[in-house]
Amino acid sequence: MSAAIVNLADFEAAAYTRLGDAAWAYLNGGAADEITLRDNRAAWAALRLWPRVLRPLQGASLGIELLGRRWPHPLLMAPMAYQCLAHADGEAAAALACASQGAGFVLSTQASQPLEDVAALVRDEPGRGPLWFQLYPQADRGLARALMQRAQAAGYDAIVLTVDAPLAGARDRERRAGFRLPAGLRAVNLPAAAPPAPAGPAGGAGADWRAAAPSWTDLETLLAASPLPLLIKGVLHPDDARQAAALGVAGIVVSNHGGRTLDTAVASAWALPRIADALQGAVPLLVDGGIQRGTDVLKALALGASAVLVGRPLLWALAAGGAPGVAQALRLLQDELLIALALCGCAHPAAATRALLA
Ligand code: LAC
Repeated sequence: MSAAIVNLADFEAAAYTRLGDAAWAYLNGGAADEITLRDNRAAWAALRLWPRVLRPLQGASLGIELLGRRWPHPLLMAPMAYQCLAHADGEAAAALACASQGAGFVLSTQASQPLEDVAALVRDEPGRGPLWFQLYPQADRGLARALMQRAQAAGYDAIVLTVDAPLAGARDRERRAGFRLPAGLRAVNLPAAAPPAPAGPAGGAGADWRAAAPSWTDLETLLAASPLPLLIKGVLHPDDARQAAALGVAGIVVSNHGGRTLDTAVASAWALPRIADALQGAVPLLVDGGIQRGTDVLKALALGASAVLVGRPLLWALAAGGAPGVAQALRLLQDELLIALALCGCAHPAAATRALLA
């Protein structure tokens, strides 16, 4: 990658030059007026840190513990659909780059490459991060169970059930750009007849979002059926977080789907501390939405997250530079996080508390 790249934002322009306007609108856009999309970034940026001096930093590291295992740092690549749209090497390149950097990788239900092939590339890497499979509830409940079983057999460590998109948001930018998936690109892990969720309100491709829309009862059923720890993703309201924790989810990803579902939904940085207060450590919290600086990650940790998911910036890096691009982006983010942690007087992520926030 170019020496001109010194931070994650630098990948954005590099990615745009490689992608057509329509693909860009799909990958980078948000819902409606994109207020939540902008708020996500702004909410992290608006928080101010207290630097601390003269603290012991010997042995400082980014290591964390999550779901009973040690990981080299708290960064995961968020689940994002159709990565072959960003780069011909798609999810395989992204997963390899994440594994090379010890970062987690969450494969989307709507991946453009077979979930088994991607897992086989990285599952036995000793230095890899978490390898998780994101699941959309399916109208065909048997299909959801079959996908979980395939994920387990392939070597994924956990399931991430996305619950915030029973139907797609009002994607103005995408519709204006006339985005269509290019021929040859599809959600290969789903049967050709199963329309990828979330569908649009008109049902897109025959999908009935009403039939597919999951309920709390479905969550209970999926929890009982899951052969792997199951986290849920897309929770913002503390009452929803409480209910999910009471049902025994393994973790909660505080998320507004990168501002792609309900526009004007609260920023994830705003929801996170409220959920942390409600749950008091009952289950691990993760967060995504607008994270692209080490200081953003530190703020998320300070507000109660055990780990964070990074979305678009890693997709920009994939588009701009394939696997080496994603690895470079993850390296930059780890460096920034270590700088931020150390300058706030913390020797490791678990030492980050709300006391760091002014
Ligand atoms: C999206 C769906 C695929 O946000 O999660 O585009």
